[in-house]
Amino acid sequence: MTRHFLDIDDLSCPELDEVLTLAAQPAESAPALLAGRGAALFFEKPSLRTRNSTEMAVLALGGHPVYIGGPEVGIDTRESAEDVARTLACYHSLICGRVLDHEVLVRMAAALDGDAGAGPGAGAGAGPGAGAGAPGVPLVNLLSNRAHPCQVLADLLTMRQVFGDLGGRTLAYVGDANNVWRSLALGAAMLGMSFRTAAPDGYAPDADDLARVARLGGDIEITTDPVEAVADADAIYTDVWTSMGQEEESVLRRKAFSGFTIDDDLLAHAAPDAIVLHCLPAHRGEEIAASVIDGPRSHVWQQATNRMHAMRGLLTWILGAASSAPGVGA
Ligand code: CP
Ligand code: NVA
Repeated sequence: MTRHFLDIDDLSCPELDEVLTLAAQPAESAPALLAGRGAALFFEKPSLRTRNSTEMAVLALGGHPVYIGGPEVGIDTRESAEDVARTLACYHSLICGRVLDHEVLVRMAAALDGDAGAGPGAGAGAGPGAGAGAPGVPLVNLLSNRAHPCQVLADLLTMRQVFGDLGGRTLAYVGDANNVWRSLALGAAMLGMSFRTAAPDGYAPDADDLARVARLGGDIEITTDPVEAVADADAIYTDVWTSMGQEEESVLRRKAFSGFTIDDDLLAHAAPDAIVLHCLPAHRGEEIAASVIDGPRSHVWQQATNRMHAMRGLLTWILGAASSAPGVGA
């Protein structure tokens, strides 16, 4: 069966380790899994890091990335999400998307699974129900309202580069329990990290999120006190208070998150060698002080660079999994 990557826990713990190990390999040694093949990258929201890192990762594997903007793709307006996925699978060996609604990716993955065999090169008759047994086309989440797993691969890679094995390390997240938070909480649990979250009332994770982390054996603590969250932590993470699509709430959110800025005073409570992470884009003076993000503890540029390496590792793994699926090459 084709593997898709809609959130980090679509991988098993050993598979996550494999992806991170592949991400640490030099780009020059990447296999040409996409040689002569296309990768569709569609975006319903803006992107700087994700678009560029994904395009470069596709290129490293010998492929040709095709960028498609939101209005052009017209998901569920011009045509259904299912038909968009089926169409892209006629030309491309990989589909990656940034969507407003996570459910769109779930529907696309189901359509691709139902249509196994409708991949590029499937020829006449490709389409719903065609040729079961031929390789399917993997779908990768480039950010949704629920999850940002490609970001978190880069975050975990960065922490591994700094600390080595992450088991027993403590990661403290200060801010909104949003898409990045959700994938990060899952990823931290999968690598045996303790995970603390400080969020104001009304912006904390919900019970379903906590249950999902608990199912992975995650050790998670929730507080409304940023100092309590960062105390002796090894890594401190934050993200914007207002995510894309929430712009109308920005005034309300700025008020609610007042006191949750990662500044030098807060950082003084962390472990002496603690690092600071931010997925970017950042708003200096809101969720993070300029002196912190531009200071010596900040690893945000290493993190941004790792978006490309993590994506190359993921694509190597997921395309390798597709080509070794039962029936492929028969
Ligand atoms: N961190 C991240 O996903 O950045 P972009 O929104 O610029 O892709
Ligand atoms: N939580 C942010 C992440 C941006 C990379 C957003 O969704 O806008």
